[in-house]
Amino acid sequence: MVTLAINGHARYAPLGAFLFDCAEGIGVRVPTSCLKNGKCKECVVEVAEGMECLSPPTPAEKHLAGNFRLSCQASIATAEGQLRCHTMRRGHMRIERHALGLPSTGRPMEVDPAVTRDGDRILIDGVEVDRSTGPIYGIAMDLGTTTVVLRLLDLETGEMVADASFENPQRFGGSDIMARIQYDTLHHGKLLRRTLAGYLSHAIEELPVDPKSIYEMVVVGNSTMRDLFFRQSVYSIGQSPYRSITEFDMAAGKRTSTSLVETGRRCLLPIHPMARVYGAPIVSGHVGADAAACMLAADLAHEDRVVAIMDIGTNTELIVGNRDRILAASCPAGPAFEGGAIACGMPALDGAIEDVRIDDDGRFHLHTVGDAVPQGICGSGLVALMSELLRTGRMNERGRFEEDGHRITLDAEHSIYFLESDVNELAQAKGANVAGLQVVFNQFGIDFDRVELFYLAGGFGRHMNIEAATRIGLIPAIAADRMVQIGNAAIEGATIALLSRAKRAELERLVLRVEHCRLETHPQFFDFFVDGCQFRPIEAASRVTG
Ligand code: FES
Repeated sequence: MVTLAINGHARYAPLGAFLFDCAEGIGVRVPTSCLKNGKCKECVVEVAEGMECLSPPTPAEKHLAGNFRLSCQASIATAEGQLRCHTMRRGHMRIERHALGLPSTGRPMEVDPAVTRDGDRILIDGVEVDRSTGPIYGIAMDLGTTTVVLRLLDLETGEMVADASFENPQRFGGSDIMARIQYDTLHHGKLLRRTLAGYLSHAIEELPVDPKSIYEMVVVGNSTMRDLFFRQSVYSIGQSPYRSITEFDMAAGKRTSTSLVETGRRCLLPIHPMARVYGAPIVSGHVGADAAACMLAADLAHEDRVVAIMDIGTNTELIVGNRDRILAASCPAGPAFEGGAIACGMPALDGAIEDVRIDDDGRFHLHTVGDAVPQGICGSGLVALMSELLRTGRMNERGRFEEDGHRITLDAEHSIYFLESDVNELAQAKGANVAGLQVVFNQFGIDFDRVELFYLAGGFGRHMNIEAATRIGLIPAIAADRMVQIGNAAIEGATIALLSRAKRAELERLVLRVEHCRLETHPQFFDFFVDGCQFRPIEAASRVTG
């Protein structure tokens, strides 16, 4: 029989069994909104090993490429073999409930939402949309290329009621932005959006309130994710000069902001049909509403000090500035530091190796999220692992293994290993991040040591070991008292924009002032990139280029 592991749960699977039924049999819930007949496209799984054990794709799967299958369509087709796959992961992602160390944290903010109550009348900006005496809620959403995070807020008290997160199911359309744009262009707009709406609807229905009492939603995300969600064509973001359709419309005088507004009904969500869904404004095609939300969370509009914000992800956001001048860039670093494109990589879920230490006898000591059985390695684990391999001389600065061939086994029992080809992926992602940093600081006209506060944003940035990240040269060496790991600043910014009309107006003004730093046109970008691919501490830009 075939040995099947789904989301780390193993069993034997008989010939002819469908993956969907096998998953249910071992207690793994697979998202679905159809009768397992290939219609809803939600039951997608990613096969990490053993594609050859499965039946050929059916017509219902023609939208899928690579190692993705619909679990209701794929059945066991061989008598023997090893099959390892996972559903798009949901919940229990290790996302911090509140950003830490931000100017907004701990300071009471005036709750002044657009949704208000007058007796039993529920109003959005003074216009009645419903009659109810029950509570009124809103959702802040950070729509990332890899991860989607939701926060449910009570719009009268400003309290966070619940949060949820899941892997962006659009991953079957490619792991990075350019691949998604290409996919959406080829498949005409509907598939990516519908799949996300399905997952989002399930997540909203599981929140502990009546979805119809949710009257507003603020969406932040990179320009591509945001525009896809709002049914805009994203084709122009993938072509030079890389602009969102909303930027073209604004330049042509057809709109006064790049923000987008829809109703809950038109977004196919189970919230109140008249609810307002507000897509926060973007800076440019490549510097999105997530970066803008980070600026709001960091209170850049009122900041006197020179502050840097780095949010490492599939698309890394980089911002340097203060109340007088703000420079922002976005690096298409790829998903390696989020565990994508790495043989045993995974998001920071339970079971992800998040810390690694090598002792004097060369033994690996692994720490997993939730102290669970190891299932793979997440970004912070990869940083720690490479730092330890460097420290112990098992990997050189060029990312080559000094012994061990091309593969290092971390945990033989759970078949977790690290490949030299993984290092190549991480080197390129690191090179892009470092080149972005160098260009932005260079254009701002300061060296790293002149920055007064360096915010490391995002779930990965929050949990990364600073010493390890500095050793491998992912972040510059900055005095510990200036480096602040702030967690998910984008969702914090979305929350602020949801709870305060004044802050939302500030956000609209802020994006107009930001200078977009175009990395790809900077004459030294390539030098910075090549240097950044090396595993050694980052040098000041002037020393890289001599
Ligand atoms: S369960 Fe709906 S497509 Fe498979």
